[in-house]
Amino acid sequence: MADLSTIDAILPRTKRLKAATNDTHERLDQRILATDPFGSRDNYVRFLTVQYRFHRSVDPLYRDAALGALLPDLAERNRFDKLTADLADLGQPSPVDDMPQPFETGAVDLPTALGWLYVAEGSNLGAAILFKLARALDLDEDFGARHLAGHPDGRAQHWRAFTAVLDTIELDDAEEARLEAGAKAAFARVHALVDMAARNGP
Ligand code: HEM
Repeated sequence: MADLSTIDAILPRTKRLKAATNDTHERLDQRILATDPFGSRDNYVRFLTVQYRFHRSVDPLYRDAALGALLPDLAERNRFDKLTADLADLGQPSPVDDMPQPFETGAVDLPTALGWLYVAEGSNLGAAILFKLARALDLDEDFGARHLAGHPDGRAQHWRAFTAVLDTIELDDAEEARLEAGAKAAFARVHALVDMAARNGP
């Protein structure tokens, strides 16, 4: 019988990333939903602030030339401007960041960056549920919930176009480990941003 490591090795890379981050993702969902983000516009702004800060962290990756060469539609996938617009729709200034940015200076390690991008892009799948809930607050793709809207090609198709590339990029074992560490670091950052929002408010 195949042992677990063999089964692991034949799974597509993004499926392995999903399995490796399942626990942290589940805890994150529960923590976010526990703040009742769609209970009121004030609550939603708090959630938006977390999203804004996370997407501000990954914004440099979407502008990176080396990553753009690997993932040709990368620049169009960037949702940071939509988050800025969502906050402006709700009369909120862009929040100031007091956490050091992970990618603002120096060269980006590609496998690490791909791990972070896996998380940022994957979060657009869960956004389908959140986008529906946002309607209760009269928010949609033109006002306040722009960053949660699906892609015109459909969310699943848009995600598959991303995973098709990510699954086939050649990485050695050490790079594979940095990819997974990058995905975990991205989730850890969102957890830290949820902590920050709970302490400070938006
Ligand atoms: C309350 C908030 C959230 C809910 C309810 C939620 C829910 C979901 C759901 C239903 C999926 C699709 C799972 C599937 O197709 O099997 C998903 C995928 C994903 N979500 Fe979330 N999510 C939330 C927040 C987030 C956040 C804040 C992040 C990270 C910034 C995130 C990262 C991901 C990733 C990386 C995937 C792709 C998993 C994969 O198929 O590889 N999610 N989420």
